Amino acid sequence: MENRNSHVDSESFRAVLGNYPTGVAVVTGLDPAGEPIGMVVGTFTSVSLEPPLVAFLPMKSSRTFNQLRAASDRFCINILGADQEAICRTLASYGENKFASVPWHASPEGNPIIDGVVAWIDCEYANVVDGGDHYIVLGAVKTMGLERDISPLLFFQRGYGRFSTSSLVLASEREVLQHVRLAELAREEIEAVARELQVGCSVVAAAGSDSIYVAVADHSPEQRGKNRLGVRAPMVPPLGTLFIDEPNTISEEAWLARLGKNGAEAAVRAQKQLERVRQRGWSIALLGDMSAHELEEAVELYSCPHRTPEQERRFLDTVSKMFDQHEPVHIEKTKNYDVLHLSVPVQRSTGETVLVLRLSELPKSLQGVEVDRYLERLQAAAAQVESLL
Ligand SMILES: Cc1cc2nc3c(=O)[nH]c(=O)nc-3n(C[C@H](O)[C@H](O)[C@H](O)COP(=O)(O)O)c2cc1C
Repeated sequence: MENRNSHVDSESFRAVLGNYPTGVAVVTGLDPAGEPIGMVVGTFTSVSLEPPLVAFLPMKSSRTFNQLRAASDRFCINILGADQEAICRTLASYGENKFASVPWHASPEGNPIIDGVVAWIDCEYANVVDGGDHYIVLGAVKTMGLERDISPLLFFQRGYGRFSTSSLVLASEREVLQHVRLAELAREEIEAVARELQVGCSVVAAAGSDSIYVAVADHSPEQRGKNRLGVRAPMVPPLGTLFIDEPNTISEEAWLARLGKNGAEAAVRAQKQLERVRQRGWSIALLGDMSAHELEEAVELYSCPHRTPEQERRFLDTVSKMFDQHEPVHIEKTKNYDVLHLSVPVQRSTGETVLVLRLSELPKSLQGVEVDRYLERLQAAAAQVESLL
């Protein structure tokens, strides 16, 4: 509060406000000769939904802004993607013909949309308000569109970066490496099981609030499971049951909380599934109506280190459709099952789960007695790995 009425010098103004991250947008338009012009802004923001208004703050002295304003009553906001830092640097530089190396196409209003942006918003000037050495430009939104399903470029403390979801931030690389080393102890066993049963057999570890495939063997006919190394899935019900409440992972409470505000009914089902898994000491997921391909795609998307929160939500939607395929109450000996995977814990003598062994790529329509047989083999493998810990 000390500085309330004191003079604020530009250095400390920048030093303090540089701690607030922004997105990066390019305001574009055409000059009177029909050539594209544009300026980079970190001050783009949405303002109002009813009516739809957005804003950005150009320096009063900006040549480009004054050109844009003189040329047309329309402009287009381009939200740059995380891989467009070079374009940002080109357009933010001083000089002529900055657009010469930047590919673009026309928006419905005729303004430049830079190829590969995340989204664009065509606007009409609604108001230009005084804001000290800047203007506050209010734009009335005319049309808008999404171009690419990727993370936006971010700007923070004069550096560029991209967004990471918190689950990725939590699981440190070191932690994952420790699991990879531990998984090597299981290498021979998973190879033997995969060869013997002609299936995929993997080691899965907990990494923060995700589980991650840290070793994979696959002797199934198509060997699709081989691509699974490094693949992640979030520990959100019904996934991750064997890891809940184990050291260095998440608690049951946190696991259930990940279902969100409307998850009360699902939480009851999840608790029952968790109880069943704890009693049995193993976990099973059936394929149900979902195609293996659809599921693989969703998991691939989640495993991308640059996934967006929206992509994460899409993955969770896919998972929630499969809720009731997890941990069925009975596996009847004479009935047939399409098993997605079968998992057992690898535990230290203290009872703490350190890894999970998982069978996948099992034959379709497996009889219940066969499921039992596969499970027994997997449990024997886990016991063998436990003896090596
Ligand atoms: C990440 C980033 C954010 C910027 N944000 C703004 C902004 O919000 N307003 C602004 O006037 N200039 C901003 N600039 C500076 C302009 O992009 C541009 O460099 C400057 O306006 C060039 O001056 P000119 O328009 O006179 O050529 C930003 C630059 C960068 C790199």
